[in-house]
Amino acid sequence: MVAIHSGIHQTSRALAAAALLFCLGTMPAHTIAQTAAQPSAGQLGLCVACHGPQGNSQIPSIPSLAGQPKTFIENQLVLIREGIREVPQMKGMLDKITDEEFITLANYFAAQAPVKATTTAVNNATYLRGQETAKKMLCGTCHLPNYVGQNQIPRLAGQHEEFLVLSIKQFRDGQSAGRDTNMSASVQGVKDSDVADLAHYLAHFK
Ligand code: HEC
Ligand code: HEC
Repeated sequence: MVAIHSGIHQTSRALAAAALLFCLGTMPAHTIAQTAAQPSAGQLGLCVACHGPQGNSQIPSIPSLAGQPKTFIENQLVLIREGIREVPQMKGMLDKITDEEFITLANYFAAQAPVKATTTAVNNATYLRGQETAKKMLCGTCHLPNYVGQNQIPRLAGQHEEFLVLSIKQFRDGQSAGRDTNMSASVQGVKDSDVADLAHYLAHFK
């Protein structure tokens, strides 16, 4: 009984989130123009405490937000607030943040210049293997050939290597509840060594 109930609950939350995402996507231009140009200092301070100054993360397990596509950020914020994508570190944090404020936050982070997060040296052999694997696995068809992302698809170029490894493994291992199943399908069965090569290549992308 409990399982059925929670299943229904999950579905209705998913539907609510889908409706919200639809509204964000179709909001008329004049509404968007009325949203504040800058996030509040309080909200921004909260985000940058983990995601780094201007959204350039200095913590290897936390993704940078600078230069991410606006739609990707908006979508993820809704999914995380509704508990559909689980981010334990952000649990409850977005409960009081409105959709309008999400748009303002997304505009802000999308407009920041991304700084290459990884400070470790590039290993040429690993880089070239990663490049080859990414080509074979067609990563650039969705993330674009320069890996800057588009619409609901995230930027990977210059992202933290450790975060990339973690998140590719989450998709591969079915630990990416609430996230895009096309992405999980793309990395199904990929070997750990290939994940490491891909992450090294993308983190150091030049
Ligand atoms: C306590 C640390 C912490 C704070 C504060 C925090 N986040 Fe996060 N956030 C994370 C972590 C960790 C992840 C990645 C979780 C994962 O995928 O494993 C994340 C993921 C995200 C993602 C998805 C990014 C991606 O590339 O997948 C977005 C968007 C995001 N956060 C936005 C925000 C915003 C906006 C704020 C401020 C309102 C904020 N976060 C505050 C820790 C934090
Ligand atoms: C069919 C399109 C598609 C292909 C091909 C694809 N991806 Fe993705 N990827 C996505 C989408 C969509 C997301 C956003 C998923 C979500 O959060 O719901 C994503 C998310 C990611 C993320 C999470 C990043 C973040 O900031 O949260 C990583 C890492 C990633 N992809 C790596 C790869 C790699 C490596 C390849 C090639 C092996 C690949 N992707 C191929 C569509 C694709």
